Amino acid sequence: MTHLNSERKDVMLSPSLLSSDFADLTSSVREAEQGGAEWLHIDVMDGHFVPNITVGPLLVESLRPVTELTLDVHLMIEDPDAFIPQFVKAGADVITVHQEACIHLNRTIAHLKSLGVKAGVAINPATPLGLLEEILPDVDMVLLMSVNPGFAGQAFLPSLFRRARTLRSWIEREGYECLIEADGGIKLENVAQVYEAGVGVIVSGSGVFDTPNPGETLKQMRRACEATKFVKV
Ligand code: DX5
Ligand code: ZN
Repeated sequence: MTHLNSERKDVMLSPSLLSSDFADLTSSVREAEQGGAEWLHIDVMDGHFVPNITVGPLLVESLRPVTELTLDVHLMIEDPDAFIPQFVKAGADVITVHQEACIHLNRTIAHLKSLGVKAGVAINPATPLGLLEEILPDVDMVLLMSVNPGFAGQAFLPSLFRRARTLRSWIEREGYECLIEADGGIKLENVAQVYEAGVGVIVSGSGVFDTPNPGETLKQMRRACEATKFVKV
């Protein structure tokens, strides 16, 4: 069974559970569903690649039976290859590894695809985008970090706008199918600008779950995006 809700839509929302109450995750899942989110973003941190520790495959396995949302797993870990099979078995739909964590990125992306999941590559704010040039034809998604990974609630780095426009121009020029996701510091106030820069999948943690009505915030985010248009580069 596939849970990849990736049919071409103007914008897809992937609220991050990192800002949820971990003692009551099901409530956050229901809020995401009620708000019309397509995806659910799960941040996996190992205390090595990033200075924080979060969750592993067990959480993905627990969430799988309770929702049809696309499980969007962001691996902020060293040696992702060692854990990819466990996340696939647990029910992840999209698995994103960091460019900075993969010595043999092409091999890792091929590994993900061979296991039947969508393959994403994430890139930190200070890593040159050009390092993705050779892998772009092979990935289903690029995740542009708009904070240094490790924590929810950090300030948005505006270099995301330039990076998203550049990446979008490369994808359109070559005719690739690749999605662009942005992650970090995205809130109702700046979501339309992020979308305008060419981002199709929006991650938001504190910008959703630290608001009084997360479902309503998600709906407002979608309306804000739909009120604008991609700027063609
Ligand atoms: C940061 C994580 C993000 C984080 C986003 O390392 O990858 O997904 O949850 O949280 P906000 O939206 O609060 O920046
Ligand atoms: Zn993330």
